[in-house]
Amino acid sequence: MKHVSACFGCEDRKMNTSEKKKPVLKTRLTQRLEISHPVISAPMAFAAGGALAAAVSQAGGLGLIGGGYGDAEWLENQFRAANNQPVGAGIITWSLSNNPDLLDLILQRAPKAVFLSFGDPGPFAAQILSADVALICQVQTLRDAKHAIDIGADIVVAQGAEAGGHGEKRGTMSLVAEVADYIAKSAPDVLLCAAGGIADGRGLAASLMLGADGCLVGSRFLASNEALVHQNVKNAVAAATGDITLQSSVTDIVRQKVWPDRYKLRVLKNQFTDRWHGHEAELRKNTAEHENWVKGWEQGDTEASSVVIGEAAGLISSVAPAADILNDMVEHAADLLAKSRLYLA
Ligand SMILES: Cc1cc2nc3c(=O)[nH]c(=O)nc-3n(C[C@H](O)[C@H](O)[C@H](O)COP(=O)(O)O)c2cc1C
Repeated sequence: MKHVSACFGCEDRKMNTSEKKKPVLKTRLTQRLEISHPVISAPMAFAAGGALAAAVSQAGGLGLIGGGYGDAEWLENQFRAANNQPVGAGIITWSLSNNPDLLDLILQRAPKAVFLSFGDPGPFAAQILSADVALICQVQTLRDAKHAIDIGADIVVAQGAEAGGHGEKRGTMSLVAEVADYIAKSAPDVLLCAAGGIADGRGLAASLMLGADGCLVGSRFLASNEALVHQNVKNAVAAATGDITLQSSVTDIVRQKVWPDRYKLRVLKNQFTDRWHGHEAELRKNTAEHENWVKGWEQGDTEASSVVIGEAAGLISSVAPAADILNDMVEHAADLLAKSRLYLA
């Protein structure tokens, strides 16, 4: 059964009244992972390094290093940068299939969780679970949620199409509720997180109302001080509205990543997408554009390359420390949940 309790100051009732009272949101996720806040930061490829993951874990959530396509040296460096904070790591599942030894490297660092998304997690589940590490599987359909549960996932993340990065077509609200219903009926010990479009306390509170035990947040943490992306990218996110993102394959084509067709990448619309979205075959043959894009990426040119972000961009107006982002989110959600009785007539 889902359990959520929200209150201010419950953490320490004897607290001196001059001290700021900390909101507490206890859910099955906080209990299972032994964390304070039901928020996990997404393993964003290239962007979620050890510093971001550590800042989120230190502030009471669970931070995940974004192992992306799997570069062993990068992963080693980012685990080091996490400075012994209890963090986890994510890796793109189809890419891990090409280099399965990377899982040994991750498990040797005693991560708090391994997060798999975009591909079949089945071949890796036994190794992760036998290492006594929580297995988090991100899914985009009910069918894949059922499969993740069948192969032993501890936590399912239901990711709606609003999400930044790769995703599919289903919207967050109905997908999360549908997976919550399935879990309640068929696998009550499995935990659920909502993902896609969650960037503030409203999204966190809504996730819990939909039947999730917490949420996974990417885009909001991309605009954090700790994220490993160019400052221009963070500024572009803070300035954008949710209207100006699109799901497209053009970024994967230009950077020569061969993704399964079902997944498209949500990015900001810009000069690059205006030029190439809808002209994918032509882009595939254009090697000069590959060089332009790479140069633009390195220089933080947000028009010539890509800004990977979700519709939540419209809810982000500042670049801030990850701990502040997390604390504000939890405080606001706790406030909304405490006040929710106001809606009763
Ligand atoms: C910049 C960026 C990079 C991402 N990279 C990955 C990734 O490498 N692996 C992964 O599983 N998810 C990745 N995601 C998706 C997240 O796991 C998550 O589903 C998404 O951020 C949630 O939606 P939100 O962006 O609205 O918070 C990425 C998201 C962003 C914004």
